[in-house]
Amino acid sequence: MDQSAKFWNNIAERYSKQPIADEAAYQKKLQVTREHLRPDMEILEFGCGTGSTSIFHAPSVKHIQAIDISSKMLEIAQSKADAEKIKNVTFKCMTIDEFSVLDKTLDAVLGLSILHLLDNKEEVIAKVHRMLKPGGIFVTSTACLGDTMKFFKIIAPIGKFFGLMPMVKVFTTRELEDSMTDAGFKIEYQWHPGKNKAVFMIAMKH
Ligand SMILES: C[S@@+](CC[C@H](N)C(=O)[O-])C[C@H]1O[C@@H](n2cnc3c(N)ncnc32)[C@H](O)[C@@H]1O
Repeated sequence: MDQSAKFWNNIAERYSKQPIADEAAYQKKLQVTREHLRPDMEILEFGCGTGSTSIFHAPSVKHIQAIDISSKMLEIAQSKADAEKIKNVTFKCMTIDEFSVLDKTLDAVLGLSILHLLDNKEEVIAKVHRMLKPGGIFVTSTACLGDTMKFFKIIAPIGKFFGLMPMVKVFTTRELEDSMTDAGFKIEYQWHPGKNKAVFMIAMKH
């Protein structure tokens, strides 16, 4: 099994029980996202974790494909969806690289707390752009550690080596904005809840 899947499988149970670090910010992100959703929408969430965000948005859209590299995260997600009788979210265990769909077929893609964990962020952003219909949106929330914690570049590989944390990539908000615009997105909405907090963006495909 992939090291990253192992890491997330090991912490899945604990992750699902942890209170959300900033509940008010999470609620605001959910509300802002919901304002962009419509009942006819086909959505992908990658790195869905224990499924809370997909389950929240399910009643506002037609269908959500929710994928994650960790089967344990997905077991928890599926049982939460079952408990809430949510039928229009399909959970699948796979990486965003493995996921495949025809170009220009998705209305929205959600990638929350995930872009900073990827080795190939630019490729994934380009892939999301290809999969979206024109006018489709990419909703992200990303730790931009390069803004305030450049030293993390040195610590991260050590933490990864000891299995204490996943590999975290260090980049600035400005670099993330550039990655989005270079891929062809226009940033429609951006919100930074505060120092050392994730940057929330809604980017639109022209
Ligand atoms: C920090 S958690 C975020 C979970 C959820 N999006 C949230 O906001 O609570 C990152 C999640 O991404 C998943 N993941 C990591 N790399 C992935 C990849 N390449 N493709 C799909 N999922 C991935 C992990 O298993 C984990 O569940």
